[in-house]
Amino acid sequence: MEGVPVNVNPRIAQPARNSKAMITGAFVRNDWYVAMWGDDLPREQVMGRTILNEAVALFRKADGSVAALADRCAHRFAPLHMGKVAGDRIQCAYHGLEFDGAGTCLFNPHGNKRVPPSARVRSYPLVEKHRAIWIWMGDKPADLSAIPDFGPLDTPEQSHVTKLDWIRIKANYELVIDNLLDLSHTSYLHDGLLGNQDMVDAEITVEQVGDTVVVGRRSMNSTIPGLFAIQMPGHPRVDKWNTIRWTAPGNLLLRSGVHKPGTDPETGTGYYGIHFLTPETDRTTLYHFTAVRWNVLTEESANEQIREKISVMRRFAFAQPARVRSTIKARTVTPTRIKALNPASKIIESRRSASAL
Ligand code: FES
Ligand SMILES: [Fe+2]
Repeated sequence: MEGVPVNVNPRIAQPARNSKAMITGAFVRNDWYVAMWGDDLPREQVMGRTILNEAVALFRKADGSVAALADRCAHRFAPLHMGKVAGDRIQCAYHGLEFDGAGTCLFNPHGNKRVPPSARVRSYPLVEKHRAIWIWMGDKPADLSAIPDFGPLDTPEQSHVTKLDWIRIKANYELVIDNLLDLSHTSYLHDGLLGNQDMVDAEITVEQVGDTVVVGRRSMNSTIPGLFAIQMPGHPRVDKWNTIRWTAPGNLLLRSGVHKPGTDPETGTGYYGIHFLTPETDRTTLYHFTAVRWNVLTEESANEQIREKISVMRRFAFAQPARVRSTIKARTVTPTRIKALNPASKIIESRRSASAL
């Protein structure tokens, strides 16, 4: 191990910066975040991600189960995501030390092959559930029961599930939560696609349900927006509704639907919108998303094409406001911040949109 030049530039965590911009530097650590879609972590490949300002290397062990280590080798700090999978271990790309899923170095190919007890890296609890890989970033024992329910993702009908997609947003994740909980913007920012002027006037409800906040929005006898017209063709006017459930820190489940005016909402159709917001840094967010259709009314022969259209339309919609969000510089009091300040807070109210504005 001696005599090896030290010339690496490890991808190490950046310390939280402090400025008048929206920089928290204080994340909710003892909770679950989506690190990536399960499909995005192939066998025999180590993937690097930055989560809560910490560089993490993720890989699959021989049995397919997932593991995550701090992305910094205990020897000369080379990024472990540049290494390769060797059975149940990561082999560091620099000098070949091998670390198991618990972060223990089990193999040193050099000299007397002794492994110093200090040759360890941090490991992170990792669970694959609802097609996503969830990571626990805190120091308390990981609470498996705290992974929020995203059961719609488990549907076996793949023509009803859109692409498991993701983008990087150049904004703090709390701004994205604000954006998703206040869907009044759809009438303007997504005019014709997700909303329109008919939907400006809406019934709005805000309710705390257990540890979640649920925001509802309902508009009557409105022009059907494009994303819904492809799911329920032949109905130019509809009642439209949605509820969006926020489970802190950053996981949201939307249920959205349209139906013939004046009829039972469950006779209509729509989709679950899945939104996983994971702080990458103070200023950037990993945004994983997809949609799962419910009560599909269109012919199965058309559903693959509809699936593709929904994927494209939603990706366009989510990337569209990114520039708006990233230019919001003012420090904002957000629901996440309110919860952090007062975890016992309970807010239950109903109001008309006009009074909300
Ligand atoms: S930096 Fe030397 S084995 Fe990893
Ligand atoms: Fe939006």
